[in-house]
Amino acid sequence: MIDVYRVTLSAPDDFDGWREAARDLAEAGVPASAVVWQVEGGAADLFGTDATQPAAASFPVPRSFVELAGDVVCHADPERFALLYALLLRLRYDRHALEDAADTLVRRLQDLAKAVRRDVHKMHAFVRFRELDGLFVAFFEPEHHIVRRAAGFFVDRFTNMVWSILTPELSIHWDGTNLSEGPGAAPADAPAGDPLEETWRTYYSSIFNPARLKVGAMLKEMPKKYWRNMPETSLVQPLIATARMRELEMIDRSDAKEGLLHALEAERSIEPGGNLRASWEALLKDARKCTRCELYKFGTQTVFGEGPLDASIMFVGEQPGDQEDLAGRPFVGPAGQLFDEALEAAGIDRSAVYVTNAVKHFKFVMRGKRRIHNKPDAGEISACRWWLEHERELIRPPVTVALGATAARSLVGKAVTISKVRGEPLMLGDGSECWVTAHPSSILRAPDEAARREGRRLFLRDLKRIKARAEELAR
Ligand code: URA
Repeated sequence: MIDVYRVTLSAPDDFDGWREAARDLAEAGVPASAVVWQVEGGAADLFGTDATQPAAASFPVPRSFVELAGDVVCHADPERFALLYALLLRLRYDRHALEDAADTLVRRLQDLAKAVRRDVHKMHAFVRFRELDGLFVAFFEPEHHIVRRAAGFFVDRFTNMVWSILTPELSIHWDGTNLSEGPGAAPADAPAGDPLEETWRTYYSSIFNPARLKVGAMLKEMPKKYWRNMPETSLVQPLIATARMRELEMIDRSDAKEGLLHALEAERSIEPGGNLRASWEALLKDARKCTRCELYKFGTQTVFGEGPLDASIMFVGEQPGDQEDLAGRPFVGPAGQLFDEALEAAGIDRSAVYVTNAVKHFKFVMRGKRRIHNKPDAGEISACRWWLEHERELIRPPVTVALGATAARSLVGKAVTISKVRGEPLMLGDGSECWVTAHPSSILRAPDEAARREGRRLFLRDLKRIKARAEELAR
C-alpha cells in the first residue's frame, strides 16, 4: 500500500508552507497522487499521515515557476496545491516543462495565476475607503485569497493614513507603521455613506469623458458585483445614458473653441481625422463596396442604415427585402409599412430613430420571376456584424431594438428565444440596452387574422415600453 502524506498549510495562501513541504516531498520522490494538501481549519482529511519532511536538499527550479506558484496558491481552487506539486515533480526532470504553453497542466496553472492577478488588480482599483473618526475603512470581497498579496499596494499608497480593509476572509489594518491582521468581516462592519462618497462621486463625474466612453471595457474591468460597494457606480447608468448628448454638446461648443474639436477628434477610435457625420459617411462608402460575404454578388446594392446619428433608439431588422434592395433603404416594403404604422401608434417618430439591418444585402432565391426572401446564415450574419458594430459605435444608442431573431443573434452574439426575452432589456457589451421584439414580417406571415392581430398588439406593447424606456434614460 502506498503511504499517503498529508500536508496541512497554515492558511489558504500559505506559499512558504507549500514550498517547503513540496520541495521536501519532491526530493523524497513522493508522487503527486500520494499527497493530500489541506489548509488548517479547512475540511479535515481522515486518511494519510502527516508528512514528516525528509531532509531538505537544494532543488533548483526556474524563477518563473516560483512566480507562478506565488500567484497560484492564492487561487480559490482547492486543487491548486496538488497541481503545482505535479508540475514541480515534472520540473525535476525537465527544467523546461513550464515553457510548453500547450501542455494542459501548464495552461491550467497559468489560467489560475492570471485569475489571481486580475483579482489583485481589481482590489487595487476598486477598494473605496470611507472615513470614520479619522480612520479609513473599506469593505471588499475578493474572489480569491489575495488580501495579503494585495496589501503592499495600499501600504505604499496610503502610508500616512490609518486604515482597515475588511474582507469576508480576513481584515488588514495599517496603523501608520505596522500592518496587522484580524478576522473576516461583513459589509455592515464598514461605515456606509459619508462625505468621502461625495468626493468620489464628484471626482468620478468630472473625469468621466463621454467622448472616451468605452462601456464594454469599463464593465469588463468593473464587474457589477463590485458596484454595490462603490459610491460612484450609482452614476454609471445615467452617465452612459447622457454620454452621447454630452458629447454632442461638446462638439457644438467646440465651434467656438476649435481646439476642443481637435482633441475630441483625436480621441475617437473610429476615423480620428473626421467628425461624426464624416465618419458615418466614410463607413457607408466602405459598406457600399463590401465583399465580406458572397451576398454582394446577387443583390442590387448595399442597404445601409439611415436616421439621425444622435438617435436614442436604433432599430435593427434582419436583411433588406425585395423592395429595400431596389430602393437602397431599409424597411420600405410591406414589413416597413407595418413597422411605420406600429411606430406611429406607439408615438415614435421614425425620422428621429436610426433604422438598419443585421445583414446589409438582400438574400433571395428565384421562384419564377420573383425573388423570394432567403434567411441569412450564421456566416453571413457574422460577416455583416462588422458594419452593425461600427454603426453602433458611432451612434451609441442607449436603446437598440432587435426586430426578430436574426438581429438579436447579431447583437447579443447568441441565439435567443423571442418569447423568453421580449419585454425586458438585455445588456450589450457597451453597457447599453437591447430590447428584443418580433420582426414585422413574422406578424405579416402569421397564419390567420387573429394571430396577426395578436402579433400587432404585442409588437405595439413592446414599442410603447421601448419608447418610455428611451425617454427615461435620456432624462
Ligand atoms: N425586413 C428587414 O429585416 N429589413 C428590411 O429592411 C426590410 C424587411
